[in-house]
Amino acid sequence: MKIKNICCIGAGYVGGPTMAVIAQKCPDIDITVVDINENRIAAWNDEDVENIPIYEPGLSDIVKEARGRNLFFSTDVDAAIDKADMIFISVNTPTKTYGIGKGMAADLKYIELCARQIARVAKDDKIVIEKSTLPVRTAAALKNILDNTGNGVKYQILSNPEFLAEGTAVQDLLNPDRVLIGGDIDTEKGQEAVNALVDIYATWIPQENILTTNVWSSELSKLTANAFLAQRVSSINAMSELCEVTGADVGEVSRAVGKDSRIGPKFLQASVGFGGSCFQKDILNLVYISKTFGLNEVADYWEQVIIMNDHQKRRFAEKIVKTLYNTVAGKKIAILGWAFKKDTNDTRESAAIYVTDYLLNEQADIVVYDPKVNKEQVFADLEYLGTHSSEEIRERVQVLTSAMDATREAHAVAVLTEWDEFQELNWQKIYDSMLKPAFLFDGRRLLEGKSKRKIGFEYYSIGS
Ligand code: NAD
Ligand code: UDX
Repeated sequence: MKIKNICCIGAGYVGGPTMAVIAQKCPDIDITVVDINENRIAAWNDEDVENIPIYEPGLSDIVKEARGRNLFFSTDVDAAIDKADMIFISVNTPTKTYGIGKGMAADLKYIELCARQIARVAKDDKIVIEKSTLPVRTAAALKNILDNTGNGVKYQILSNPEFLAEGTAVQDLLNPDRVLIGGDIDTEKGQEAVNALVDIYATWIPQENILTTNVWSSELSKLTANAFLAQRVSSINAMSELCEVTGADVGEVSRAVGKDSRIGPKFLQASVGFGGSCFQKDILNLVYISKTFGLNEVADYWEQVIIMNDHQKRRFAEKIVKTLYNTVAGKKIAILGWAFKKDTNDTRESAAIYVTDYLLNEQADIVVYDPKVNKEQVFADLEYLGTHSSEEIRERVQVLTSAMDATREAHAVAVLTEWDEFQELNWQKIYDSMLKPAFLFDGRRLLEGKSKRKIGFEYYSIGS
């Protein structure tokens, strides 16, 4: 089966970059990415390709090449579904904020809406692909919705979780460690659908890196991979606290440990805590699933990864307060970096939000600078927590467009995202413009401590 038309529902951090790369690599397939968010689609279609809604290194060039040729962005979801042979569902699956499973389970309402819309619109057979990260066995629910519409359309449901990380999305898509495709491989039609998707990826990815499994393994592998990655960060962050009280240095520990080929060097960078839209939500989802099966020990084991992460964010904020003589009330604290990691404009679950919220509880005055995040986003992130009123946030928090301005006359600077440009700042000039003693808290171990102390900073870094 040769695919000619693809529809992707959801033009977000996954749908946008993933489809752009498929469009670039497969110019003979027409791809329409659809979304109900009109502003987002308008931004994807902006004449100036630098205004696309997602910042990822290398992405705008690919969009420039493919957009209008075989890559289209639209709000007409029905039309794109109707035309497609293959439909990717790439909508958000956040943690539920209400009802059963509140604060833990994945909210599948957007997924279900997609399934119902496909069922309503489709007139011919379709391959439907779960690109979103979903609880294991979601495909059974999707199938149930799709198969019970009585219009005779036949669906094949595949799971094809996405492993890209933000900030490196384009590279991850061009050269993935693996692509995972789960399908009904015991049936001829199921295998045919799997092959159709394999053929697309095989255009640029070596066959041996394209894994095929049954649907449940594929769904569960995605949650497992994220849980394992996040667990490494929480493990090294746990050690960072022990390092601080023993004179060990977590950078040295992580290098020594990571040299063991059984452990490996990646994801051992101690930090102010992991953020991002995936780790927390996917582990909570895993915890919830385990609980629903009565596997309480399994649930508790994974929940500890989150507990450790919350602790790490809180203890960093506490360290600031304690160091500033137990009060930050009315003191100006500059936050450098708001995104949850460098090279992205995404702020979901960013540690900066929680550290700032804690400092606001202590009545600090906050000044934020991030190279890719704007003022409204910072306010929206803080307002979403619901701990401080919109007025208080706007009164106490300023968002400026340069690090020099943000740090001027500050009592303390906290580096919360590892943007490269923070290494290149004129730290002497920053020191000169700050109140003394000038405190510098490095939540990313980004800066070279010795030279900062030489300038005169009271320098504190996670894990040493
Ligand atoms: P996102 O919020 O950036 O994008 C989702 C988009 O779907 C939004 O623009 C929303 O308007 C749209 N949408 C929701 N319901 C819709 C509907 N019924 N019809 C049309 N559009 C609809 O989310 P994301 O970061 O792209 O994540 C999408 C999925 O991919 C999630 O399940 C996530 O867990 C998973 N994932 C994300 C990442 C990542 O790094 N962000 C990586 C791997 C997997
Ligand atoms: C993650 C997974 O890596 C990716 O495979 C999956 O598809 C989606 O979720 P993402 O959240 O985009 O990707 O970024 P990632 O690089 O995993 O970083 C997550 C958080 O962990 C960031 O806040 C990052 O700063 C932090 N982190 C990561 C550390 O604190 N230390 C590390 O060593 C690695």
